[in-house]
Amino acid sequence: PGEFYALPQSPQTFKQIFMIAGYDRYYQICRCFRDEDLRADRQPEFTQIDVEMSFIAPSDIYELVDGLVVKLWKEIHNTDISVPIPRMTYKEAMDRFGIDRPDLRFGLELKDVGDIAIDSDFRVFKSVLEGGGIVKAINGKGAGSLSRAEIDRLGDVCTRYGAKGMAWVKIQEDKWQGPAAKFFADDIKARLTERMQLEVGDLLCFVADTFTVANDALAHLRLAMGRQLGLIDDDALEFVWVTDFPLFEEITTDGRHFSKHHPFTAPSAEDLGKLNSDPTNVRSQAYDLVLNGLELGGGSIRIHNQETQSKVFSLLGLSEDEARSKFGFLLDALSYGTPPHGGIALGLDRLVMVLAGTDAIRDVIAFPKTQKASDLMVKAPNRVANDQLKELHLKTLAPEA
Ligand code: AMO
Ligand code: AMP
Repeated sequence: PGEFYALPQSPQTFKQIFMIAGYDRYYQICRCFRDEDLRADRQPEFTQIDVEMSFIAPSDIYELVDGLVVKLWKEIHNTDISVPIPRMTYKEAMDRFGIDRPDLRFGLELKDVGDIAIDSDFRVFKSVLEGGGIVKAINGKGAGSLSRAEIDRLGDVCTRYGAKGMAWVKIQEDKWQGPAAKFFADDIKARLTERMQLEVGDLLCFVADTFTVANDALAHLRLAMGRQLGLIDDDALEFVWVTDFPLFEEITTDGRHFSKHHPFTAPSAEDLGKLNSDPTNVRSQAYDLVLNGLELGGGSIRIHNQETQSKVFSLLGLSEDEARSKFGFLLDALSYGTPPHGGIALGLDRLVMVLAGTDAIRDVIAFPKTQKASDLMVKAPNRVANDQLKELHLKTLAPEA
């Protein structure tokens, strides 16, 4: 009475315990449960192909999964996928595409223009840059023919992702036209022309904001433009391994960090020293497999020493007592001497979704849940009888129906 199981988000710590126990290879097709915002490619219950291996480097995972991808596409679609699947660091993905799961089926790459924008007459650019933000731009090749209403809709994409606006100019034969044109003197125009490879007929769009917002807005603008300009080939398959993710993704005002992948991910060997001095800039040995802008899988090399694991728990804001009570079994196991190990999990439903040629995960899951996580057929979640609650020693604070 009064105690609970948690449904597993993944068997992460369990598969690591296997490695510590001396099994050097593991895989499982397993059910996972997550309480997170639902989207077209997420369900609260889903299935992973889960893998863990000892004495490996990331390249061993890439090779194993490349082989799986080749076999799947060959057997199911008689399509040859060329391997090795290319790799790109997280930093490069963010620089060029503004997102850690870039859709490589088309160009329209983002470019940082902060060094040019600072010399322009646009106050917004200056104040954002002086406040530590960034100014990035995208050259909509040939999009100069879009109507004002169509450009406004692209601007709406930016504001939907948090940007305060989207500045734009049309590059015309005799002049630059649009609301932002007046802010650029001739020398600025020349520098932008060179950086962005502008030609007559292009539409140059800017967002100035924090690193996160500017990249997020432009990444989604890029997708919208790509679709609008008909640049995305539905039949193309552009796989990429995104590597070297940061270890932490954000810090709260009280100094707690959040893991980008999960708390068991190993810092990069070169950045280990920064764990104390500069944790936000520590890279990790985490990687994702991305196809056409969709994350198919993710994994990492794990921490295999107790000291580093304890340090990471403390950066995540867990007190020693909390770390003990939640993960004592892992810390104990690590103290016995642990082989270096790592792994990955692929979203099985997502794989089936792409192989089936659909972009909604609900299409490939029997009895899927809605966007609000309810099962409409059996009408779950639903209230239960008081007798049932009593049997479980539970009381609910929910108001009477
Ligand atoms: P991660 O959280 O990245 O890693 O999940 C791995 C893969 O599982 C799929 N996935 C989902 N599919 C459908 N609905 C969801 N709600 C959902 N959430 C995740 C994705 C994702 O890439 N334990 C680690 C793996 C590891 O480090 O080995 C993990 O679970 O395709
Ligand atoms: P304003 O001076 O407010 O009329 O803005 C001029 C243009 O700049 C408009 O097209 C706005 O959408 C755009 N704009 C405003 N804020 C930003 C920003 N942070 N980044 C990029 N463009 C912006």
